[in-house]
Amino acid sequence: MKALIASGGRGTRLRPITHTQNKHLIPIANKPILYYAIEAAAEAGIKEIGIVHNADSFEVPDYVGDGSKWGVKITYIPQEVPGGLAQVVMLAEKFVGNDKFIFYLGDNMVVGGIKRFIDEFEKSGCNCFLTLSKVKDPERFGVPEIKNGKIVSVEEKPAHPKSQYAVAGIYLYDSHIFEAVKALKPSSRGELEISDAHQFLIDKKFKVGYTEITGWWKDTGKPVDLLEANRLILDSITPRIDGEVDAQSDVAGKVIIEGGARILNSKVRGPVIIGKNCIIENSYIGPFASIGDRTVVRNSEVEYSIVLRDCKIVDVGLRLEGSILGNDVEIVEATGKPRVHRFMIGDQSRVEVA
Ligand code: G1P
Repeated sequence: MKALIASGGRGTRLRPITHTQNKHLIPIANKPILYYAIEAAAEAGIKEIGIVHNADSFEVPDYVGDGSKWGVKITYIPQEVPGGLAQVVMLAEKFVGNDKFIFYLGDNMVVGGIKRFIDEFEKSGCNCFLTLSKVKDPERFGVPEIKNGKIVSVEEKPAHPKSQYAVAGIYLYDSHIFEAVKALKPSSRGELEISDAHQFLIDKKFKVGYTEITGWWKDTGKPVDLLEANRLILDSITPRIDGEVDAQSDVAGKVIIEGGARILNSKVRGPVIIGKNCIIENSYIGPFASIGDRTVVRNSEVEYSIVLRDCKIVDVGLRLEGSILGNDVEIVEATGKPRVHRFMIGDQSRVEVA
């Protein structure tokens, strides 16, 4: 069993963060999203992982490395032009060979690992095994139609979904999937759709099975999904304080404070993670906040937010909530007269002021 992980695409729905950073490297609880997929594969005993990345960028290979830190071997497979998930699978044919494999979209997150899916797939004798999750907005996803416990069709982003399920971005295949992806024509959005490959296998009477994901699963395609994934991951952290908390501070709940971080005269209410060498002074860090390395929060309040590395949040009068700050972002008090908002904001940013 091998794993194939997709890390390409442009992440347009996560701009402006993705103008300068691959979406799969955005941290959730201070760890890149992609690492959760790699860890899940390694934990399931997989030793060989292929990662498909945008051919014009080595950001992912440079950042992730050869896999040795997880005890796996990572092979990088470049994708020249984003042409859909079925194209990603097609590019991996040589890497996969005749093995079975799990195809994991690097921006998907699931609790409880993937071993269970692999075991069920192996036992089922299926050629293709899909993981399904009940969602409120199936029209955003691939949607199965299920009759008498069998998937009879799969449609990509249908206007009128035939079930409440999304096909999650964790798929298990044997090598028949390559026949399917090679037979496809681009969809109306110009991509080779993975849902069409599944439909091909159904039409050709291959065995397509499924399992339901009963815990949480998230496709982190949109900002609100990132915040929710961050909340869910923080909920399960093991508290650890390696940094310094002074006598005037009050830290409660599940909190990780990394080495070199200093909490001075502040209140921290977990679940929260505070990165290395941060300074939190005269401030409040509330539930579900992830604060990246070297960030400074002074005379300010932050909760339910993702703050990346090297930010400055200083003298901000109102609590930051539901916010995502990229690297090196500064939010500071405007001084002098008249009282103003003063912005220096890049393309496709979004600011809400009270
Ligand atoms: C892709 C697939 C879709 C699947 C989803 C899961 O959608 O095309 O079938 O349900 O991933 O995350 P996309 O993220 O490209 O919109």
